[in-house]
Amino acid sequence: MKLLSCTANTPLAESIADYLDLPLTERRIERFSDNEVFIRINENVRGEDVYVIQSTSYPANDTLMELLICLDALKRASAQRITAVIPYYGYARQDRKTDGRTPISAKLVANLIVAAGADRVLTMDLHAGQIQGFFDVPTDNLIAAPVIEEDIRRRYKLKQLMIVSPDVGGVVRARALANRLGVDLAIVDKRRPKAGVSEVMNIIGDVKGRNCILVDDICDSGGTLRGAAQALKDEGATGVAAYVTHGVFSKNAVQNFETSALDEIVACDTIKPRDEDLKSEKLRILTVAPLLGEAIRRIANKESVSKLFD
Ligand code: R5P
Repeated sequence: MKLLSCTANTPLAESIADYLDLPLTERRIERFSDNEVFIRINENVRGEDVYVIQSTSYPANDTLMELLICLDALKRASAQRITAVIPYYGYARQDRKTDGRTPISAKLVANLIVAAGADRVLTMDLHAGQIQGFFDVPTDNLIAAPVIEEDIRRRYKLKQLMIVSPDVGGVVRARALANRLGVDLAIVDKRRPKAGVSEVMNIIGDVKGRNCILVDDICDSGGTLRGAAQALKDEGATGVAAYVTHGVFSKNAVQNFETSALDEIVACDTIKPRDEDLKSEKLRILTVAPLLGEAIRRIANKESVSKLFD
């Protein structure tokens, strides 16, 4: 078995390698002068079970190209089985036609990954569960919920707690976490008049006097969480924190949380946090490396992955 990392999130790949007590396979990744990606695998991988770790995070097209070219290099080097480990699957939000003459890019990118050589995919908290079916190879979609649940249990008193979905699309995810914790659920009714802009319409549930925890798959510009936190405070919530699996954090999202109603934002390390974001006292990072490492170990040993979430 071999573990290999592209460049999007080296610290996460190193932590996974530590968990598995395996070295990362030596490779060279360079750019030609016109920014073309060049990759050479510096070790023999013939007949190996190889796991390539790469989030297709910012800059999404470059990180995706690195992954595709790495898969191609491994396929041509006669790896026996190649698993694309994609902790954050960028392009997932383009999972349907939102208008006439628009693409379904989440499907196109899945096709590219399979065509490049992935025999399996291992990912986490896909924006919508059904995207799993976009990959025409076995795909495991892990959930970060056990890691988030453990952190919440360690830090909060469950009695006054309320889990809140920041939009209707996230209700299944938020309800699953509320059930694991045995606490109530509220829902924010969010409207998106245009891409990148969100407006809170209503709050479903009585949040007065409750400590609220917003749960989402992605925080991008942070507009959704800022708007939801303010609306919850306006309705009498005593405190508002947020947990997200993927901290995309575009447009100074983290810096803008400083002046928001949000007490804390906790993100998993599926995307490598930026140094300037880590300076914020409102941001805390949880690692999912042991969860991903354990899933890789189970896939390699042909053991159940779903047992991890029982
Ligand atoms: C959308 O449905 C996602 O689950 C997130 O709520 C969204 O991507 C967050 O975007 P932003 O932080 O830009 O509001």
